[in-house]
Amino acid sequence: MQRRPGRVLVSRDELARRVAQLGSVITRDYAGRSPLLVGVLKGAVVFLGDLVRRIDLPLTIDFMAVSSYGAGTRSSGAVRLSADLAVSIEGRDVILVEDIVDSGRTLAYLRRNLATRRPRTLAACALLDKRERREVEVTVDYVGFVVPDRFVVGYGFDHAGHHRGLADIRSLD
Ligand code: IMP
Ligand code: MG
Repeated sequence: MQRRPGRVLVSRDELARRVAQLGSVITRDYAGRSPLLVGVLKGAVVFLGDLVRRIDLPLTIDFMAVSSYGAGTRSSGAVRLSADLAVSIEGRDVILVEDIVDSGRTLAYLRRNLATRRPRTLAACALLDKRERREVEVTVDYVGFVVPDRFVVGYGFDHAGHHRGLADIRSLD
């Protein structure tokens, strides 16, 4: 069943401000380099689209797709790679761009997977961090907002595929 988006947890203005800040920090941290931003489909697409316009570097982008949730609001725990990168990352400065780190399983899996491909550096940037739900320890180098344990939709976040196009991040009723 399609549930209704509830109150705004992170507004479009807060998102714009924070994404601009993250872009400035990444621009500074990667000065003189040409990072490859790897967006994790599909949730990170909106965030990535805004973030790349706030990074003043000659960057490139690519995508990976993973699935773990199905149609529910709790992770099954198993992570599956359903689409891989189109390019080699060997010797590249890679920044994984995730929508949210929840249990940490998806990011831990992706970090392990990409590390075997010998990038020069590997960092992770997540828009949201549901820190209190962490089950596996994983490094998140750049975090937009730490959020409480509420299921969210909007700004790329979905419930069973719905609500990704909302401009604000909302909780689900
Ligand atoms: P993890 O593997 O448990 O850290 O889960 C990460 C993935 O779960 C994210 O990339 C999201 O796709 C999904 N997820 C976790 N919490 C939410 C939420 O509140 N709304 C929508 N998707 C979520
Ligand atoms: Mg998802």
